[in-house]
Amino acid sequence: MANMKQIAELAGVSLGTVSHVLNGTAKVREPLRKRVLDAVQQCGYQPSQLARGLRRDRTNMIAMIIPDIVNPFFPSVVRGAEDVAFADGYRLILCNTDNDHTKEIVQLKALQSYFPAGLIVIPSNFSDLTAQARSYRENGAAVVCVDRLPPNWDGDTVTSNNIEGGHKATRYFIEHGHRSIAIITGPLFLTNAQDRLEGFRQAMCTAGLEIPPGLVQETTFDQAGGYAKTRVLLRLLPRPTAIFAGNDMIAIGALRAIKEAGLRCPDDLSLIGFDGLEIVDMITPSLTSIYQSPYQLGATAARMVLDRVKGQKLPARHIVLETELQVRESVATLHSPLV
Ligand code: RIB
Repeated sequence: MANMKQIAELAGVSLGTVSHVLNGTAKVREPLRKRVLDAVQQCGYQPSQLARGLRRDRTNMIAMIIPDIVNPFFPSVVRGAEDVAFADGYRLILCNTDNDHTKEIVQLKALQSYFPAGLIVIPSNFSDLTAQARSYRENGAAVVCVDRLPPNWDGDTVTSNNIEGGHKATRYFIEHGHRSIAIITGPLFLTNAQDRLEGFRQAMCTAGLEIPPGLVQETTFDQAGGYAKTRVLLRLLPRPTAIFAGNDMIAIGALRAIKEAGLRCPDDLSLIGFDGLEIVDMITPSLTSIYQSPYQLGATAARMVLDRVKGQKLPARHIVLETELQVRESVATLHSPLV
């Protein structure tokens, strides 16, 4: 593969002139600049991004860490970030943590050796991002936290309005006559799970409704967790008439448990999810869900990173995206509300 010395010889200029043209570190008179670019094209020269990173202590790469690559929500977040990064000439390096905070530390330490210009993190359960990201920020890398926030985080964030989303779901149940409403939350270490529960509590309180302890179940943000906790709820007497699932994967697991128990959704048990994944249109019944835009979360995070990479000196920004109630088939109206 051609190198800068060969470019200089072919173009009949100094190595320094080639470096200035390729790195934009000084203005080079047009005839010389054109000779260098022609030589680059002729040799098919590819500058080493890592070598360039070593010189600048920073590459044109943005590192991204997600907690669960098999949850279809997160690839859409990555897609939004990658579209923005690519349009601006940056490359994305993606790592997955399986919601394991020890793996998250390993990924964070390993990524530092690539000198990324920025870092986008969707923290894992029990994340220690605040401490681990300190060295990135000290080295001038822009760091943005997405979707859920680790303890004591004081940097840039972009999230959905999870309290509002939880409130909307619960209000919808109440407006359809439900009074005994359960919630299956994600891990309550995570702020998105906390906020969805908070929205649920606020709506129940406003309606003057009790929340018996058994009607709040905490689990993992996946089908297995939704299935297991729904089986617990189905054994309660009286059984709740509605379940608010902390995300669509929990809701899909809940639906499996409802059907396995010989019950029908929504006739026997109404269900609302959170995310509005494409799959919820394809299940039976189709799932009423609180939509949040993973693409916009990712695209916004990448724009926030690039603003800082380009030198904007800004105070920490906290962008909150709106959610939307998407009504489908999984909620029935209860005509004789439980007293
Ligand atoms: O981690 C799981 C959940 O967190 C996703 O389904 C989405 O709701 C995100 O907020």
